Amino acid sequence: MQPKHLVTIADLSLDDINKIFHMTRELKSSQAEGKTAKPLEGKTLALVFEKSSLRTRVSFEVAMGQLGGSAIYLSRQDIDLGHRESVRDVAMTLSRYVNAIVLRTFTHKTVVETAKNSTIPVINALSDYYHPCQALTDLYTIMEKRETLKGLKVSFIGDGNNVARSLALLCARLGVTFRIASPKGYELDNAFLDKIKTLTKGNSLTISNNPREAVEDADVIYTDTWVSMGQEAETEKRRRDFQGYCVDAPLVAQAKSGALVMHCLPAHRGEEITDEVLDGPNSIVYDQAENRLHVQKAILKLLLLAGS
Ligand code: CP
Ligand code: NVA
Repeated sequence: MQPKHLVTIADLSLDDINKIFHMTRELKSSQAEGKTAKPLEGKTLALVFEKSSLRTRVSFEVAMGQLGGSAIYLSRQDIDLGHRESVRDVAMTLSRYVNAIVLRTFTHKTVVETAKNSTIPVINALSDYYHPCQALTDLYTIMEKRETLKGLKVSFIGDGNNVARSLALLCARLGVTFRIASPKGYELDNAFLDKIKTLTKGNSLTISNNPREAVEDADVIYTDTWVSMGQEAETEKRRRDFQGYCVDAPLVAQAKSGALVMHCLPAHRGEEITDEVLDGPNSIVYDQAENRLHVQKAILKLLLLAGS
């Protein structure tokens, strides 16, 4: 039997998503009450990271520890995925030692190839194309703050990047309206738009080049870096092209009063978001960061205990 992977949000059924949210709530409150079940005792997770990480690495390692298992972190220097040996050989070998692989890569193809060649679950911890663990955390966090997702409008200001794609997919899945404003040339790509249309009715997504229009009446304003990991050579051009796309107080004032402000972090203060907004009363960025831990515990339980 093929293991269950999380390469993209499309790998999850609506039932899986609801299970993740339900387990997250339970796991978070058990932890707050000091209850310590160890459902992953004896299980080991490999964290294979080609790029830097604070939240993803630490939250997965802590999650495994709290659930009774253990984690091994493997940086680029350790295994040099695809260079020292093929992606297939790494996937086949790790499948003999550990119970799941969490993978952060430059190209999305590497995650797909690892999943294809692994006999254990593979979790995408960010590729250049998707960041599904982030999106699941984001929607969970919104639900926690607003109690329901029904009728909500999420507006993303900035690059049509990995974080935006996964968020758009999950919003579409859950019937949440998603609007995105990006500079010309940085919109969500056509291949992605075709994919989202086949997965959803395609009626909950609006694309524009106008941040003020995009945040009008929004319940949530979301932003991310203008320069993702791997795009460092484009830094100067991107900084120029994204002028006018900073989430600042006047932009937040265009949204619903009390609109939530979200950012996956790391933030570039003074570029995509001002200090005033990031540290302001509408910002829930550290709750978002904390929830990575609780949501990923639920993802690990769903995938590692599938069929048991
Ligand atoms: N949001 C997020 O994935 O953060 P890290 O890059 O620090 O893991
Ligand atoms: N879009 C960013 C997200 C970091 C969590 C990047 O890929 O660098």
